[in-house]
Amino acid sequence: MKTAILISGRGSNMRALVEAAKAPGFPAEIVLVLANRADAAGLEFAREAGLATAVVPRRDHEDDASFEAAIQAELEKAGTELVCLAGFMRILSASFVETWRDRLINIHPSLLPAFRGLRTHERALAAGVRLAGATVHYVRAEMDDGPVIIQGAVPVLAGDDAKTLAQRVLAMEHRIYPQALAWVAGRKARVVGEKVILEGAGEDKNAFLINPPSLPKS
Ligand code: GAR
Repeated sequence: MKTAILISGRGSNMRALVEAAKAPGFPAEIVLVLANRADAAGLEFAREAGLATAVVPRRDHEDDASFEAAIQAELEKAGTELVCLAGFMRILSASFVETWRDRLINIHPSLLPAFRGLRTHERALAAGVRLAGATVHYVRAEMDDGPVIIQGAVPVLAGDDAKTLAQRVLAMEHRIYPQALAWVAGRKARVVGEKVILEGAGEDKNAFLINPPSLPKS
């Protein structure tokens, strides 16, 4: 499945997806890495990896509609069938989200629906939760909302600060996003009544729903 990845910065999740997609038989092909900032560090990795890249800054456009139309044009030019948001820090309109309904997925650094929005790790620490984690979900118009494809949990350890917790969660993000992409691009994930059903995703479906093993190396 021809897949575009949208980033705003570092792009470490994008990198995890690009690396996973190199495996023979992986069901997604990365056809575009698009950033809304020319200085997004991830762009350099994408260019060096020989991927098509595009930069669409919001400030080059009069309004959100024309900004999104420019993104849409880049996606179409690349033949995109599936869009992965990977640290893309702009909220997309309901109409854009509807255009890509069930073909647009996002990663968020919390166990949704807890801690939507920004500063998730600070807020998790302030709330005193014992488990943190990350979620990959289909995108709906509400921010950080939509059917959950996969979640990975990590412990909150004594002495954690936002930085140490973010590192532990990020390592889990890099495991679950490639798995989610493999399921979605491999047509093993299906949205039914705003929940995700996994079909043919493994022998023991339940074992895959929390802290799944990393994708097998091939
Ligand atoms: C990741 O932690 C991702 O989950 C988060 O931004 C970071 C991007 O890092 N996304 C959100 O907070 C979306 N609501 P990366 O550029 O290294 O992948």
